[in-house]
Amino acid sequence: MQASAFVLFGATGDLAKRKIFPALYNLHLEGKLPERFAVFALGRKPFNDELFRVHVAESLGRFSRKGKENAAAIADFAARIQYHVLDARDPESYIRLKHAVEKRETELGLPGNRLFYLSVAPEHFGPIAMHIRESGLGNEDGRTRLVIEKPFGHDLASARSLNDTLGRAFPSDDIYYIDHYLGKPMVQNLQALIASNPVLKAVLNNHYVANVQITASETVGVEARAGYYDQAGALRDMFQNHMLQLLMMTARHSEVYDKRKIIDSVYPVNKDEAANHIVRGRYAAGEIEGNAVPGYRDEPGVDPQSNTDTYVAARLQLDDPIWRGVPFYIRTGKRLSEKSTRIVFVFKNPLESHSSEDPVRNYLSINIQPNQSVDFQLNLHGLNGEIQPVPLHFATDAEEVPEAYELLLFDALHGDPTFFAHWDEIELSWKWVQPILEAFEERIVPLHAYPAGSNGPLAADRLLAEQGFAWVEHGQGQAVEEE
Ligand code: BG6
Repeated sequence: MQASAFVLFGATGDLAKRKIFPALYNLHLEGKLPERFAVFALGRKPFNDELFRVHVAESLGRFSRKGKENAAAIADFAARIQYHVLDARDPESYIRLKHAVEKRETELGLPGNRLFYLSVAPEHFGPIAMHIRESGLGNEDGRTRLVIEKPFGHDLASARSLNDTLGRAFPSDDIYYIDHYLGKPMVQNLQALIASNPVLKAVLNNHYVANVQITASETVGVEARAGYYDQAGALRDMFQNHMLQLLMMTARHSEVYDKRKIIDSVYPVNKDEAANHIVRGRYAAGEIEGNAVPGYRDEPGVDPQSNTDTYVAARLQLDDPIWRGVPFYIRTGKRLSEKSTRIVFVFKNPLESHSSEDPVRNYLSINIQPNQSVDFQLNLHGLNGEIQPVPLHFATDAEEVPEAYELLLFDALHGDPTFFAHWDEIELSWKWVQPILEAFEERIVPLHAYPAGSNGPLAADRLLAEQGFAWVEHGQGQAVEEE
């Protein structure tokens, strides 16, 4: 069943401008929106329909993946949007909105299927959901959906309390938790890639894989988000959600396909042992693409005494039939040497004994962004009789790759929750992360400095070196020219 009214809270915000409107517009261009479709844009700022449409048109001109120049299509799309000033705390505002939505639905002959998208600060999630319910904006017959953006809580207890509140306002099946990493096409492709290639399926297990490495590195710093980020840090901002979802997507397999079972199978890390399994870092001043950049504590809006992490690496083990004994190394951080999200399966080396000095010779790297590609690193005898690494590289056409939000919004409009984070997974992820959060707060895990533009704290190498491995860095193992 398609939703045909899209009610967007936080419509004047950054996410709406950069992601949500461009995604809807691209769906419009591709004929993937319902023919009769109304967007209700809600915010506190005093726009009217006309001014807001101009604002949206400008955003599309800057941020849309395609159709930036297509003034007619932009105007056509913008005409679907109505702007309403809404004070999210005022019950009367919801009653007025309800009347406006009903009026528009009647004009367009819409059946009353509504999708509410909360692109607002997390403290508003619960109150808005309750107001939607109490005002009758959310239809009683279940033809409504609620889509929310992270953060889903600040720790296990607050996440549970958020879910309880939302559950009083919407049936749990109608709550869609967005994790935009699940919308990235290569992430959606992961299981098909493995399942449809027997050669991969046969070797991605503990007989052949020595370790798995999941990296999401960014070159950006805290940007203009210090108010949020300084309270969150990398563990909450990226690890608890995107990284653990990537782990679930990577480790699931035909015997254990349920992501909940995967996250539940990760051995817990106790608070007191956290420093043995987790490395925590914060960027210091350095250089990004040749430009000097400040350290985290000197960023505008960051507390100069801040104790927040901008980098986390972890070593995990799964109690799973095919992954038992294979370490999963996961890392994410800001102000690193490159923007790259990838999953690397490092194969066991039958020729040499392990030592951290050994080059990694045979691996499969599934590259999620910035380019979608697959690298397969093989070995070949070179002319000098020595084994040489030979890379095989496959890349998709970047132009044609849809944005995560396009895929996710399309699914939400069609009521398909497959690529959304499910509450049980979110709760289990928080449960795993909670002792680590406490270890961070109690400073049981040291906070290492790393220069902006580097590969992160050196301490993160130790996590692998202790087990005889090393991180596979990008571009490593390129064929060496023979002299
Ligand atoms: C967001 C985080 O969820 O993901 C940001 O809050 C981060 O801090 C962003 O920069 C990364 O997303 P992407 O799609 O650019 O890898």
